[in-house]
Amino acid sequence: MDIGDMRREFESEGLDRDHLDDNPTRQFERWFHDAREAGLLEPNAMSLATTGSDGLPDLRTVLLKYFDDQGLVFYTNYQSRKARELEENPKAALLFPWIGLNRQVIVQGRVEKVSKTESLKYFASRPRGSQLGAWVSEQSQVITSRGLLEQKVAEIKQRFSAGEVPLPSFWGGYRVIPQRFEFWQGRPSRLHDRFEYLRQDDGWLIQRLQP
Ligand SMILES: Cc1cc2nc3c(=O)[nH]c(=O)nc-3n(C[C@H](O)[C@H](O)[C@H](O)COP(=O)(O)O)c2cc1C
Repeated sequence: MDIGDMRREFESEGLDRDHLDDNPTRQFERWFHDAREAGLLEPNAMSLATTGSDGLPDLRTVLLKYFDDQGLVFYTNYQSRKARELEENPKAALLFPWIGLNRQVIVQGRVEKVSKTESLKYFASRPRGSQLGAWVSEQSQVITSRGLLEQKVAEIKQRFSAGEVPLPSFWGGYRVIPQRFEFWQGRPSRLHDRFEYLRQDDGWLIQRLQP
């Protein structure tokens, strides 16, 4: 299959410093709003890159569940591969591939676990099936058959047949605390607009990058 000549012109409006919010979270919020309004599939899906002590970059998709000036939050299993890598090196990069809008946003920063209260609140808001699923999966561990997983589902359903499903001790959120944002807008003839926000002691330095 020849995919070398697959390309598309980016006919989008430009991005100017004057139109950027001084606060990257508010700029992100604007673009997130645009992605939702445009009906993009799962606009909160983001690639999460981590690197453990072996130095080999790792990548997977997770869902953004909350963001504010403190950072961007996702939830996962605290014993998963990503969790182990974040323990070894608590830094990550995120990428929102909003290709339908000719945009991408990249975030890099330090990572911390969210408070137990925050995880509890989010866990309680999840559908029961997802709550049970969190108990069932030893995420990222090898399993010899799907049958074993289904057997575990039955056991867990029985165990929590009455009442609420509690938050597993091995499950919760992480917050990526940004030290850099990049907002990328595709433009014709590959002369794309790129702006980065770099965290300073007293705010954010905003600068244009070459495409
Ligand atoms: C659209 C999409 C959304 C996902 N959201 C999450 C999520 O929010 N949390 C999560 O732990 N895994 C999520 N996954 C699964 C992860 O991509 C990944 O397979 C899993 O977290 C195990 O990753 P790890 O072995 O690198 O730790 C999602 C996958 C897709 C395709």
